[in-house]
Amino acid sequence: MKKRVYIETYGCQMNVSDTQVIYSILSKEGYEFCQQPADADLILMNTCSIREHAEEKIISRAKELISLKKKKPGLKIGIVGCMSTWNKQKLFDKIPQLDLIAGPDSYRNLPLLLKQSYSGETHLMDILLSNTETYEDILPYYPENYVTAFVSIMRGCNNFCAYCVVPFTRGRERSRPLHSIMNEVHDLMEKGVKEITFLGQNVNSYKWDDGCRKWFFPDLLDHVATHFPSLRIRFATSHPKDVSRELVEVMAQYPNIAPSIHLPLQSGSNRILRRMNRNYTLEEYKEKIQWFYDTIPGITVSTDIIAGFCGETEEDHQKTLEAMKDIHFFYAYMFKYSERPGTLAAQKYVDDVADDVKTRRLQEIIQLQQQLSYEHNLRDINKTFDVLIEGPSHKNPNEWFGRTGQNKVVVFPFQGKRPGDVVKVKVVEVTSATLRGIPWPETNLM
Ligand code: 5AD
Ligand code: SF4
Repeated sequence: MKKRVYIETYGCQMNVSDTQVIYSILSKEGYEFCQQPADADLILMNTCSIREHAEEKIISRAKELISLKKKKPGLKIGIVGCMSTWNKQKLFDKIPQLDLIAGPDSYRNLPLLLKQSYSGETHLMDILLSNTETYEDILPYYPENYVTAFVSIMRGCNNFCAYCVVPFTRGRERSRPLHSIMNEVHDLMEKGVKEITFLGQNVNSYKWDDGCRKWFFPDLLDHVATHFPSLRIRFATSHPKDVSRELVEVMAQYPNIAPSIHLPLQSGSNRILRRMNRNYTLEEYKEKIQWFYDTIPGITVSTDIIAGFCGETEEDHQKTLEAMKDIHFFYAYMFKYSERPGTLAAQKYVDDVADDVKTRRLQEIIQLQQQLSYEHNLRDINKTFDVLIEGPSHKNPNEWFGRTGQNKVVVFPFQGKRPGDVVKVKVVEVTSATLRGIPWPETNLM
């Protein structure tokens, strides 16, 4: 009988994409996928180290999953992804019944580790980081009927933002060959995918030399947008320092490149940005945003903000709130600073903003963003958008759920369409999180 594997994924979109690479590797080894941990012979947790709280939750979940071994003694449990390279051997001290750990560059070795594990070895560990691994020749596993897909185009990070574990958990930046990206996009289109999101920790620092010429991120976008004109293209996450005029121009040129950009600001105070080692000032960030606003009508900008970084004063915090209003992000991911041992900030600075102050500042940031998102959405009332239907709405199965090119979530009543269809929808009502619309023109309502 085939062995069954269950994978639980935490953290960023890159991990979601990596899980599909792992599925692909394991399916070649004869594994079948299952949806419930209780049905599995092998459980993998693809983990995230970005904040302490995330790690704590994963460890307590791992202990819960370990208890399944009582009923099924042959069950193997592994931790893969960022927590493996970050915690190393310590993971086995925290969870002694764990069978194996593998880092983000070690997925090709999973079959070997599993073979060793089934032959009785325990505490197996492969956490070596690579300067070249991009899994370029592995087509990630995708179930049928997926409308949207991730395509990882580069891995790792060279930026060393002071707060961040990623350079340590995922190693140095490297880009995937253009032809392997094209193959994957082609394969996804054949499977019926209608929208792809290019992924990388610094997606816009993509570079590839094919021997004849160098390809930078705008060149890649241009190439893919030309070859697949019916495909909607997104990308995440960009670093402000690598945003170029060429990027803005190529986005403006192609209607199939979605008019939306995720550009983490992190703080509105130049003093804090310098301490964070972000390599831009607020003024430089705003100038680049203005390029987008001036060149691509209706483009939306989302961001990441950290509250309470080392040394952040009330004045710095006010600057962040001001910058958020000024730029008018339509959406933001907002976090309380969490010190990660070994990062530049942990070595250089004191984590000196009291926890209740961090919480209060984060609360103010969240409240402001809710207001900004609501105001942003209000401007969409009576406008029509092309919405790509992703599936039934979770709240009301009689409504479809989809996204506009601007990356806003829209729900609207069923009109005989299917996931994957693009429908013109007129917005009639909004909340801070969702647009509610009606198909436009309302031909089927007569
Ligand atoms: N504490 C809080 N937030 C963090 N992020 C990264 N590291 C930390 C940390 N130590 C946030 C940043 C980043 C996003 C993915 O997570 O905003 O852009
Ligand atoms: Fe988490 Fe960052 Fe690793 Fe993604 S790259 S899983 S966000 S630590």
